[in-house]
Amino acid sequence: MSTGKPRAFILGTRNAGEFLHAGARILSDGGTALDAVEASTRLVESSPGDSSVGVGGIANFLGVQELDASLMCGRTLRTGAVGAIKGFIHPISVARKLMEEAPHGLLVAEGAENFARVMGCEAGDLETEESKKVYTAFVQDAFEHAGIDESQSWVLDYVRSQNLREWYTRLAVEHHGTVNVQAMDADGNMACAVSTSGTALKFPGRLGDSAIIGAGNYCDNRVGAAACTGRGELSIRNSTARTLIHYLAEGSGIEAAAVRAMQDIHALNSFGGMNCLVMDAAGNTMSATTVTGRESIHWYMDTTSNEPEKRIGINVPKPQ
Ligand code: GLY
Repeated sequence: MSTGKPRAFILGTRNAGEFLHAGARILSDGGTALDAVEASTRLVESSPGDSSVGVGGIANFLGVQELDASLMCGRTLRTGAVGAIKGFIHPISVARKLMEEAPHGLLVAEGAENFARVMGCEAGDLETEESKKVYTAFVQDAFEHAGIDESQSWVLDYVRSQNLREWYTRLAVEHHGTVNVQAMDADGNMACAVSTSGTALKFPGRLGDSAIIGAGNYCDNRVGAAACTGRGELSIRNSTARTLIHYLAEGSGIEAAAVRAMQDIHALNSFGGMNCLVMDAAGNTMSATTVTGRESIHWYMDTTSNEPEKRIGINVPKPQ
């Protein structure tokens, strides 16, 4: 779909669909793409039903939710990102504050938490009954099947008893998720937001691609926006979001760019899947996945939409 002159629209990953209304309303009222993507992402973050983002996100290895998020402005190329931040409900808004108020582009862990506190960002409990259940089951499994004694040092014993690569391979396939939201406003300005609790039961301190500009998030008014969900270690290795923008800028159509970026992931010959969400400056949208048997979809609304429109993306199989 090519629209010619800019008109406001918003799109998001599978888990963003029902939350796009908030962003679409902002765009209809003449608001900015930055405000729109932040508003929709905040709703996903505070939804307890999403086990991969914000409240209700599955905890890390030590039972604590650690969140990553980033925001990029396509007009100025300014960015804000936070990694491994604990105890704040809306990491995307901490990222926005960082982008607008600080001379830094990425803060992690305690530094990010101190910054969020100073900025008055909303603190809160991220744990839910469901996320607690998943963590309890993980700990029980560790005690029962890994021959670990229930003692204060069980975590260390567990780590020593495991082949961490095998363990993480299973987790990376079973539990992952992230939200991507992108928008263009009536002035033709774009923004891209990404937020996640990262791989479930991850090693504490692990950062995924969602906090890494260029890997999980990139946005440039002149070209488009790109973001990723899936096993962030892969998109970090390929700078997937920035590479997608590069492919678009050098003339690949949006579908061809997405296919190339997913083929690049297959070329790493590693485990775990990758998905991308892309929009271009003409208003075309696309999503793609490397995961066999998975339908790639994304949701779209513009200022004339009553409900989000489900758009089918492409599945890029591993070459035989
Ligand atoms: N893509 C999210 C992560 O790997 O943490």
